[in-house]
Amino acid sequence: MDHQPLRGQKALVTGANSGIGEGVARALGAAGASVVVNYVSKPEIAEAIADQIRASGVEAMALRADVSKEVDVEAMFAAMLGAWGGIDILVNNAGLQRDAPVTEMTLEQWNTVLGVNLTGMFLCARAAARAMIRRGIRPEISRAAGKIVCISSVHEVIPWAGHVNYAASKGGVGMFMKSLAQELAPHRIRVNSIAPGAIMTPINRSAWETPEARAALLELIPYGRIGVPEDIGRAVAWLASDDADYIHGQTIYVDGGMTLYPEFAKGG
Ligand code: BGC
Repeated sequence: MDHQPLRGQKALVTGANSGIGEGVARALGAAGASVVVNYVSKPEIAEAIADQIRASGVEAMALRADVSKEVDVEAMFAAMLGAWGGIDILVNNAGLQRDAPVTEMTLEQWNTVLGVNLTGMFLCARAAARAMIRRGIRPEISRAAGKIVCISSVHEVIPWAGHVNYAASKGGVGMFMKSLAQELAPHRIRVNSIAPGAIMTPINRSAWETPEARAALLELIPYGRIGVPEDIGRAVAWLASDDADYIHGQTIYVDGGMTLYPEFAKGG
């Protein structure tokens, strides 16, 4: 098996200075891709991740952009395309939560989540698609002109009380990704999602940091362990490689069985 199936490819991972995005950026680097580590705050962490990725012999750079802002996204892509000449892989990962009961949720909480989780994916996918179409297929690099991977969530299909903004954004990602896949297929741009379950990262710290919370969370995961960013990183690296060349327009759940309605194991 080729351990560097992404050799020679240029990738951009949004929200790559922590959590799942960091895991994905490292996995793409290990698979041979050069990686843009996008971040919005804590530049020193993004720079350190880029340094470590570079140590494995590929290129890496940290670029700041708030993905919900058009000017930021356009500037980030201009910097990447200027430096590296193109983009082969976009991983639309940046995402956040602003949780509240619906009766207390502010418009700002709603808009912030939709802005980053959904509008951010649109702005980055638009910029990436333009560049991928412009350059076209280079068979020595990949069978596709480009690959776009959206990081969705089990909450693309599992409703989530207290998180209507987040669940709505991820439900939106499902139809955004499929429509994009339909539209970009003639250009040979492959578009898919990875939908993680409970992955141990800062976004869900309260769900795993105490033994009680951890036990309650494990009740929701048939496979019996909480995920780690590497679980998602490996799945994304494979999905972006030509080994997955015929997978298009799909959401792949990487969730230890969280979407299997675990409570039905006890009856029904
Ligand atoms: C959320 C996490 C949550 C997980 C499983 C993710 O999309 O961001 O907070 O633990 O879904 O419910």
